[in-house]
Amino acid sequence: MTAGGDAGRCPIAVFASGTGSNLQAMLRHQQHNPLWPARIVLVVSDKPGCRACDVARAAGIPVFAERVAAYPDKAAFEAAVLDELRARGVMGVALAGYMRIVGPTLLSAYPGRIVNLHPSLLPAFPGRHAVRDALAAGVRETGVTVHLVDEGIDTGPVIAQWRVPVDAGMTEESLLERIHAVEHVLYPAVVGELARRWLEEVGRGR
Ligand code: GRF
Repeated sequence: MTAGGDAGRCPIAVFASGTGSNLQAMLRHQQHNPLWPARIVLVVSDKPGCRACDVARAAGIPVFAERVAAYPDKAAFEAAVLDELRARGVMGVALAGYMRIVGPTLLSAYPGRIVNLHPSLLPAFPGRHAVRDALAAGVRETGVTVHLVDEGIDTGPVIAQWRVPVDAGMTEESLLERIHAVEHVLYPAVVGELARRWLEEVGRGR
């Protein structure tokens, strides 16, 4: 691999709908870690005005941001996304706060090559309100999970987890801050390892 160059890096897309702090964490690796095995070549969003889109544009990353409602149905939206992914040679996808269920169009195009980040120790607290649900359940510990995406909601094979303690009196905001601090270290590391694997797999024609 050429240090600092793009040769030998796996082209990936990041899907995001929100603030994009995890996208930002990965972009820091892209910019400052010459050995990070991934190269973010596209950011996809279903929320054209979201902060993650601004983060991508500020870093000079191409953005595909469209509302699903602008298409006849979700399959048509995903077909348009797939065209973009293929046009840019994307080999794998990292979801980072993408608030939609990935459908069969994308799952079948990237089997085992779509990864998600979730703010709990799955299978505990799946779904949109994992942090709030963990607090409501009164657990002393929650965490972060990285898993491959399947057709379910936060159900695919777990790749990595990290525990996060919950202190008495914590709010959703303070717990989320603690979780984000872990995510911003764990996700770029795991996505980097996966990218290395995806590059090898595609090179072997799998
Ligand atoms: C993260 O907490 C992630 O676990 C969840 O969505 C959040 C995205 O945050 N899936 P951000 O947009 O990367 O700041």
